[in-house]
Amino acid sequence: MNFADSYRQSITDPQTYWANEAKLIDWHAPFSTVLDDSNPPFTKWFVGGKTNLCHNAVDRWVATQGDQPALIAVSSETEDGQLHEKIYTFAELQAEIERTAAIMLSLGVAKGDRVLIYMPMIAEAIFAMLACARIGAIHSVVFGGFASNSLATRIDDAKPALIVSADAGSRNGKAIAYKPLLDEAIKLARHKPAHVLLVDRRLVPMTMIAGRDADYAALRRQYIDAQVPITWLDSNDTSYILYTSGTTGKPKGVQRDVGGYAVALASSMKHIFCGKPGETYFATSDIGWVVGHSYIVYGPLIAGMATVMYEGLPIRPDAGVWWSIVEKYKVTRMFSAPTAVRVLKKQPPEYMKKHDTSSLKALYLAGEPLDETTSQWIASALGVPIIDNYWQTETGWPILSIAKGIEDKPTRLGSPGVPMAGYKVKILNESTGAVCGANEKGVVVLEGPLPPGCMQTIYGDDDRFVKTYWSNFSNEQVYSTFDWGIRDADGYYFILGRTDDVINVAGHRLGTREIEESISSHPNVSEVAVVGIEDKMKGQVAVAFVIPKNADAAATPESRRALEAEVMAIVDKQLGAVARPSRVHFVTLLPKTRSGKLLRRSIQAICEGRDPGDLTTIEDPMSLEQIRAALAG
Ligand code: PRX
Repeated sequence: MNFADSYRQSITDPQTYWANEAKLIDWHAPFSTVLDDSNPPFTKWFVGGKTNLCHNAVDRWVATQGDQPALIAVSSETEDGQLHEKIYTFAELQAEIERTAAIMLSLGVAKGDRVLIYMPMIAEAIFAMLACARIGAIHSVVFGGFASNSLATRIDDAKPALIVSADAGSRNGKAIAYKPLLDEAIKLARHKPAHVLLVDRRLVPMTMIAGRDADYAALRRQYIDAQVPITWLDSNDTSYILYTSGTTGKPKGVQRDVGGYAVALASSMKHIFCGKPGETYFATSDIGWVVGHSYIVYGPLIAGMATVMYEGLPIRPDAGVWWSIVEKYKVTRMFSAPTAVRVLKKQPPEYMKKHDTSSLKALYLAGEPLDETTSQWIASALGVPIIDNYWQTETGWPILSIAKGIEDKPTRLGSPGVPMAGYKVKILNESTGAVCGANEKGVVVLEGPLPPGCMQTIYGDDDRFVKTYWSNFSNEQVYSTFDWGIRDADGYYFILGRTDDVINVAGHRLGTREIEESISSHPNVSEVAVVGIEDKMKGQVAVAFVIPKNADAAATPESRRALEAEVMAIVDKQLGAVARPSRVHFVTLLPKTRSGKLLRRSIQAICEGRDPGDLTTIEDPMSLEQIRAALAG
């Protein structure tokens, strides 16, 4: 079947299409209904079916390829910067997961309980995720780069019975203590987890809290021979929650099911990523982000592939580190982000040439717009196709791409491609809701029902799910991606950035409102506006404009520098360095409408040297002059 026919069937007859795809995974009990969309926008896939993500990712493969690599954990965060590698076969991975699952059960974790995972990129993090999946606990991984306040908000929302963490992460050979941040977060949070399970890497000393904190190594020894059977789950049970940023300061808990997610990943691994059992997959993301969930952990393993988990920078010990991994483990499919490629592009080319990357068949890039120069550079350096793919935490797998596993349809520079199976993509005019013509800019929306694998709801808040995503157009109920886009005459889509206050820094999705709230907690900050501005390397960076309470505090260049450093430090402490603005400017006025709404798009336009747009509602035009002056100064 060619791609057009296959896609058409997924839209006109989703029952048949997805029932076929569902054969790619193991079911403990068959489903009775493929799709239940009787209560839109809530969608249930494979109703009545029973399955398990851990079974499909690991146990299923033990019988046929138990002695083959499943998890290849590589770290360059070592004292000498040289690579440290540990390989777990499918059988070994299963044993580790059973140990971790037994520990969790011994700590009272039951089906449906939440387990928050705040971990660096070490194998134990994957054991913990899969152990949750095995016993039906709901994991919520929080990115290790986040700090106390970010963690506390998530603890209060997810109310975990257990938190799994470690003494420290490491960046460029320098230990970054996690435990004090975690202790502080638990202190800040209203909800107190009964237990904290800690992996001691012996990077920094840890103070254990008696009665609450448990040592992973000691418990692992105790449960070394544990056997923990799979808990068969309903297809629509919840597998995990992953928090992501939006327009408000409160992160949204994207909630995912079990059966639909497993099928979507198996299907995308076959048709988009073309993965085969026995091959090796390498995604350079982090388990704290959705790419890590779908394409470091679940996707490759469900496809029977070995997956590489890499802790470290792309340039340590040198800029050839990723290619040395490709060479050594004969990686066939690799997934990364444009920012990482731009970092490598600045390095001398010999690092790439030093390694034999001939096993590699394609490089997949996602998370931010892929510019043509970056795409062409890496394509010619590697000599493989570069496959852009566009999606979101909310969807869990690509909305737009090129399904090379079905048909070798050409890619188009600057475009992530065409809609993947089950996604009914439309571009709507922001104000009228009318469908845009070819090459006309509008909001990218998806018509319901969304395909398997997409979010079920916002954890604990169905109303917010409907209001946030499905209520942006009065004429029809569609899912808004909050991205601008266009569709060309041939049906290829182009993504033109966010319509809301979300920014994308080096592929990391951040909410400007969260950063503003953090900055506002500084005692000398009266008002603040944070916008994302274009950056050649990182795609975007955050820039803050602050009105100080006491103007004297920003009267001289020295005092401004000192206050800027304080503001940055408060963001580091509360949210994590990943959210730190690249610059903090001081003004006495911020551009607002007469009704008091911040004119963020105008601020952003001025920062990027563009026309600030319609200013008929502005309260005081002098405020824009202040932004210009602050940038010039
Ligand atoms: O703005 C789009 C951008 O990243 C957002 C989703 O980020 P996140 O939830 O972290 O999920 C990333 C999954 C890959 C989108 O709303 N984005 C993602 N992929 C692309 C992209 N923008 C342009 N091109 C892409 N390929």
